[in-house]
Amino acid sequence: MAAALPVCWLNGAFLPLAEARISPLDRGFLFADAVYEVLPVYGGRPFLFVEHMARLERSLGEIRMSSPLTRPAWATLLTELVARNGGGDMYLYVQVSRGAEEGRNHALDRALAPTVFLMAAPLAPLDPTVRDAGVSAVTLPDQRWGRCDIKSTALLANVLAKSVAADRGATEAILLADGHLREGSSSSVLVVRGGRLFAPPYGAEILPGTTRDLAIRLCARAGITVEVAPIREAALRAADEILLGFATRGILAVTRLDGAAVGDGRPGPVARRLQELFAAHRAELAGTPLLPAD
Ligand SMILES: Cc1ncc(COP(=O)(O)O)c(C=O)c1O
Repeated sequence: MAAALPVCWLNGAFLPLAEARISPLDRGFLFADAVYEVLPVYGGRPFLFVEHMARLERSLGEIRMSSPLTRPAWATLLTELVARNGGGDMYLYVQVSRGAEEGRNHALDRALAPTVFLMAAPLAPLDPTVRDAGVSAVTLPDQRWGRCDIKSTALLANVLAKSVAADRGATEAILLADGHLREGSSSSVLVVRGGRLFAPPYGAEILPGTTRDLAIRLCARAGITVEVAPIREAALRAADEILLGFATRGILAVTRLDGAAVGDGRPGPVARRLQELFAAHRAELAGTPLLPAD
């Protein structure tokens, strides 16, 4: 994250990020007992708001919590946070932890007041060199826990995988398990072969990605065949294109995997088409309400 923007929201109040404080007994700090979302904002408008809120509510439900705010209340809060940070393009980080206790107890013996924290950070436009040349990725074994479908702040294995990728000069670590593709350390992974887009099926082992879901919808609309099916490591390595989907960066083409060229070593037609379709979709949504009218 680039340096965050100055205004955050913590437990009911807007305040300077530099002054925000939480208890060291917060279960988010002690146990990573917390979930989060990251939403891009274009022209002052949070993108895919409903999709991000649906995923947040699902993550909370899976850890036996409920959303501390209604969707209309989240919409008002996010919009206000964006405005207080100057509007325009940025991204928002939303974290809900189970809250602070009087001590450190693994078991939950009572309902706590959740800690709700939001901050904003600048969203750099996609570097044209990255768009035109693609990025490199390395493969690593997936060493994460068994509920990667929950967007939990317990990200140590992701952080370590990303660090290994960085040590090897790569942008992303693509995680493999049992001879199959899972996802990136902070991205969804899609594969193109013979003009078709392939995506691994959802389950406990990967996060449902908002960017991936939009890419699939836009491909289907553009007449590109999409197949959701397990992807073997050999198919990943033989792909014509490998795409990464991140909320903050949209679709990026992987043009080198473990040092070998992917396809002809340049971003392929599906990556470029999806980048155009994403830009058109952002433009279509500009100025529309965040929530559908009742
Ligand atoms: C592990 C993991 N998978 C997939 C994604 C992609 O999700 P989204 O497209 O909603 O950013 C992320 C994004 O943070 C992630 O951390």
